[in-house]
Amino acid sequence: MARIGVMTSGGDAQGMNAAVRAIVRSGIHSGAEVFAIKEGWAGAIAGQDHIVQLGWSDVSGILNKGGTVIGTARSLEFMTREGQLQAVANLIANGIDRLIVIGGDGSLTGSRQLCLSWSDYVEQLLSEGRITSDQAAAHPALHIAGIVGSIDNDMVGTDMTIGTDSALHRITEAIDAISSTAESHRRTFIIEVMGRRCGYLALMSAIAGGADYTFLPESPPRDGWEERMIDVLARGRAAGRRDSIIMVAEGAADRSGQPITATTIAQVLRERAGEEARITILGHVQRGGTPSAYDRWMATACGVEAVRRVLEAEPGSEPVLVGVHRDAVHTTPLVQAVEDTHRIAGLVADAEYQAAVEARGHG
Ligand code: F6P
Repeated sequence: MARIGVMTSGGDAQGMNAAVRAIVRSGIHSGAEVFAIKEGWAGAIAGQDHIVQLGWSDVSGILNKGGTVIGTARSLEFMTREGQLQAVANLIANGIDRLIVIGGDGSLTGSRQLCLSWSDYVEQLLSEGRITSDQAAAHPALHIAGIVGSIDNDMVGTDMTIGTDSALHRITEAIDAISSTAESHRRTFIIEVMGRRCGYLALMSAIAGGADYTFLPESPPRDGWEERMIDVLARGRAAGRRDSIIMVAEGAADRSGQPITATTIAQVLRERAGEEARITILGHVQRGGTPSAYDRWMATACGVEAVRRVLEAEPGSEPVLVGVHRDAVHTTPLVQAVEDTHRIAGLVADAEYQAAVEARGHG
């Protein structure tokens, strides 16, 4: 009987539980056994009680719960060769050669690496006597499907990552709440949101919440942004607006790479406009709580497809990333998705690329 491992890895995201539930039930429905690898790659390295079989009712009542009931972690050990070797040894000891990883860019990059080096690791484990030749022969490849679970929406291969929609709802609710107190006091609020190097959450929530000004990693402002921002806020006030909202992505920076933080912006407003702005750093409230309907649907659909893909995989099959494109489930080779994600992240940080974008009129 096929044995599928499922893990959640990296930062948690609303909707991960929906994916776990779908994988367990769809796996069982397809005649496979499904094992939770608790605490992500750290659990794969620890082995023993971190790898447990899940039955149909073990995933009851988790569809609407935030976080991940099987635990998650960011494992530095997994970045080392010895860490990956130990994870491979434990997967083989449990008869797992099909794995679904629900995680962000970092976790999926590590998973891709493990897949590519699988036969090398198996050979080393065999030569060190850590696995038997029967075990080595029974595990010629690791069939991986990745599902992107991250509120950041920063991965190529899917239009949305699991958790992004819920985080966006949470941020928009916070903007609405802050707007009412800001209006009462005729105040400016600077709201900092997560997203690492990606400005998706900041940009979309700025549009949904009707913010006045936004700072994004993908679009570092030209010199003189301080005066332009003050002018935009002043024009809003002159037009009768009582509140001003500035959204700043946590990865925002200027063109020299100097971070632009909520504190930097507040200082500019104090020193150049004589205004005492208030700062709200939303933090982990964005990542917690109930998943939205979209995240539950999408995580479920991707979970079912991921099971299908790992069960159909044969030696030589490429690891895949399961995501959504134009509201339908969509798969991409994992290697390509990881490489394209890194290439684009590199471009965003590249000054020449930024200059070319601006020259085309999109700066
Ligand atoms: O990648 C998800 C994310 O929430 C980022 O937006 C944020 O920068 C980071 O994780 C926070 O990580 P931690 O929970 O480890 O503080």
